[in-house]
Formats: sequence, structure tokens, C-alpha cells
Amino acid sequence: MTYQGLIHHYRQYLDLPAHTRTITLLEGNTPLIPMPRLGRDLGCELFVKFEGLNPTGSFKDRGMTAAISEAAGRGAKTVICASTGNTAASAAAYAARAGLRCIVLIPEGKVAVGKLAGAVAYGAEVIQIQGSFDDALSLVVEITQKTPIALVNSINPYRIEGQKTSSFEICDALGSAPDWLCLPVGNAGNITAYWAGFKQYQKGLPQILGVQAEGAAPLVLGHPVEKPETVATAIRIGKPARGEQALEAAHESKGRIIAVSDAQILDAQKILAAEGVWVEPASAAGVAGLVAETGSGAFEAKGGRVVVVCTGHGMKDPSIIAESFKAPRVIPADYQTLFESIGG
Ligand code: F0G
Repeated sequence: MTYQGLIHHYRQYLDLPAHTRTITLLEGNTPLIPMPRLGRDLGCELFVKFEGLNPTGSFKDRGMTAAISEAAGRGAKTVICASTGNTAASAAAYAARAGLRCIVLIPEGKVAVGKLAGAVAYGAEVIQIQGSFDDALSLVVEITQKTPIALVNSINPYRIEGQKTSSFEICDALGSAPDWLCLPVGNAGNITAYWAGFKQYQKGLPQILGVQAEGAAPLVLGHPVEKPETVATAIRIGKPARGEQALEAAHESKGRIIAVSDAQILDAQKILAAEGVWVEPASAAGVAGLVAETGSGAFEAKGGRVVVVCTGHGMKDPSIIAESFKAPRVIPADYQTLFESIGG
């Protein structure tokens, strides 16, 4: 049967109210890509769960189909979210699909162009906050407590319901859970959702390696970060809303949460691209963490099966690449010059 989106596919596993009216862009069902070369280098059987191939280019679509379906079914007219960019684009697309008004709050000047353009293209009302993601999140929480506007950040439990489905897909593809699951951690909704998903699906439990950026690593430091900074703007978050649950997931799974530098994140982005998988910087954090752990000998997955979640597509943040390369050379349009210039 043709795929009809993740709510339809996994409905029996999702705790969604009866009033839910499915709004879908056929999200989910993303590929689990084998990475034999990198896996050989790191000494494990490695797969990338490429969440950048969701309809708006990030994993947020899994949670958003659920949150918007519930809000639309309940009769909400307007939805709002705070975002470092991907949630904004996803909320905008699903709200457009449902015919709802969508307002997004983003930290001024800190959202990658592909995400902002998406939110605008899908017709959201975008407001920049003179502050961080954390400030924006406090504001949207307050406004949704005082007005009928529906909150679609991952504090909303239906976001977690939708995002659990990636664990189900991984188990379905591999036959059981992997030994390790590595993923970036920002506001900590996704790590919470994966862990809940694996526990519910009962096909085994992975150890979880959550990875934060060094300049935005409240869960590693053990306290909030007032002014988070990282090149991985998607995870530039100092007070994760589901921080406690993230720590629980790491602890219960006998895994951990670590921090990696911006340089390690950008290296990991290159390593993935060298195998044909271009992801945005934050999405490379899982691989950066895996590389760091295997390099330091701290990793127990030798020979085991590892899934790294790559959360968003490289096209979300083209500037990070465009700023670092020299403009391609220019040659006259004639055959001989071409032949000579490629060392023919
Ligand atoms: N990777 C990407 C590409 C993200 O956009 C995010 C979060 C994360 C990882 C971290 O996921 O917050 O569930 O721990 N982006 C949010 C946003 C904050 O607004 O788009 P998390």
C-alpha cells in the first residue's frame, strides 16, 4: 500500500486524541543509509538516519504533523513557536497545509537562511527577538498560557508522539534497535522522543550518545548557559526545555551526553559530505561525537551497530559552506582551455 504519512502508518503506537485531524506532507519513512567507509574507519557497522529528507528538510516534520493535526482537530486558529529555524519552517508548512495562521519567533540574526526562507515561503509571520532562542521560548509559553494560540514547540506532548516514529522506523529497518544511537541535543525534545520510542517499541534498547556544542552545552556543564554560542545555530540553546528527560535518557540507556567543539562539528560535516551526505552543521554533531569518542577510546561500540541521526539537510545552511570556499575558477568557454585546466 502506498505510504500515507507517519500518523497513518504508526497510528496504533501514537497517543493522539480522538479529535486529531491528520495533516500530512507524507513525512517520515526516511532512509537509513549505510556508511561502510566511515564505519570501517571507526570500527563499527554504521548507518545514518537521514532526517534531512523530510518534506521541509528536517526531523521537525515528524513532530509537527502530530502537533498541527491535534491543534487543527481541536479547532485552533493560530499556532506559534520559538525556533532556531527548523521548527519555524516545519510549523509554517504544516500550518499552511491546515489553513492555520502561524507565528514564529526567532533569535535575531541567528537563523540560517534556508530555514528563514522556508518559514517565509510557507507564509508564516516571522518575528525576530532581540534575545536568544531561550528568551523566545519563554515568550511563546507565556502567550499560549494567556490566549487560545496553540504552542507547537516540543513542550507540546504531541510533538514527542510524532518524533518517536523515527525509533520505530530504525527498528523496522534493522530488525532490532542498534547498539548505539548518536544524535545532536538542543532543546532536548528529540532525544526524549527517541528514547520513549525505543522503550515503547520493545525491539531492544540502544545506548544513547547525545551531543551538544561546546558553547551551548548546559547538559554537560550541569547549569544553564546564559549566552550560548555555536556555529551550529540549530542547537544554540542554553536552557533546554526537556533537559531533565535528556539526562534521564542518557542515564537509563547507559549512554551519555558530551560536548564537541565547533571545529569538530565542521569536520564531521565534511566527513559526511565526503560520503555523499550533506547535512547542516548541527546535524553533524552526532558524527562529531562518535568520532571524538572512538578517537579517545571511550567508546564501547567496537564492532557494534551504530545509528547516527542527521537531523537537517545541508541546504538549510548554505552560507556556512559558501563563506568558506573560494569562488570557482572562471575560464573562457573553449574546449582547449577546459582540457588544459583540468590537467587533461
Ligand atoms: N538538529 C537540528 C537540525 C535542529 O534544528 C535541532 C533543533 C536539533 C538538532 C536539536 O533537537 O531541540 O529536539 O534537541 N532545532 C529547534 C528548532 C530548536 O527551533 O528548530 P532538540
